[in-house]
Amino acid sequence: MTPGQHPLAEQVIVHLSDLHLTADAAPLFGVVDADAQLGDAIGRLTASGVVPAAIVVTGDVADDGAQASYARARALLEPVAQQFGAALIWVMGNHDRADAFRSELLGGVDAPAAGTELVAVHDLAGLRLVALDTSVAGLHHGALSDDQLDWLAATLAEPAPRGTVIAMHHPPLPVVIAPSDTIELHGQQRLAAVLAGRDVRGIIAGHLHYATSSSFAGVPVWVAAACCYSTDPLAPDGWVRGQGGGQAISLLHVYPDRLVHTSTPTTALPTLYGFPPRPEG
Ligand SMILES: [Fe+2]
Ligand SMILES: [Fe+2]
Repeated sequence: MTPGQHPLAEQVIVHLSDLHLTADAAPLFGVVDADAQLGDAIGRLTASGVVPAAIVVTGDVADDGAQASYARARALLEPVAQQFGAALIWVMGNHDRADAFRSELLGGVDAPAAGTELVAVHDLAGLRLVALDTSVAGLHHGALSDDQLDWLAATLAEPAPRGTVIAMHHPPLPVVIAPSDTIELHGQQRLAAVLAGRDVRGIIAGHLHYATSSSFAGVPVWVAAACCYSTDPLAPDGWVRGQGGGQAISLLHVYPDRLVHTSTPTTALPTLYGFPPRPEG
């Protein structure tokens, strides 16, 4: 094989979403072992040779908001992040509970934004990753408060050396399987106004449990399929249908001039063929 037309990626970010761990590891819907799905994802990652700069979990870390669920999420992912020297970045989802999330995953630190919103800024070798908190306690839909939008505007006022990626649970996109105010991000135009003219290169999100991509205010958006179980965009008769398969990991390859998102199953599939990587030089 000859080299391609593009340089190698500068960084790889592992993007997981919607782990939905439960306090006692009880199977979701009686059949889905969320711990096993995350374990499979980790096994695939560590066997792959990919060395991520960060592991980002875009929300719904816990299904039940329980302290024990967060403790296990941390116990499973922290050693992997340490092994790679990768940042481990947690984003709040609608299933998450702020007090347990803050104490177990964020070390109890106060968020930099006003109120209880658990936002953060991470510097990944000049690439700025901003974690937003779109959760609304006890409800499925997402929202961004005026305080959080003000904080975001101030954060983005100065460009970062390699631009910005925003991680958020609720994507600012149409929800094709069940358009509804009860699950969408509210107030999307206010977010669009904050992003106008800033250095945001991409938005990564979750919440929908199926992989999808689009753009928002001119910014590419990638929604990762869930790690735990998926929803079916081709459900019979327009139903909303959760299904026990389709779990995936997303990879975000950062190139100088673009982001490339890739989705792959959490579970290893049967090998059909193989060959070794191209030798160096
Ligand atoms: Fe979810
Ligand atoms: Fe969600």
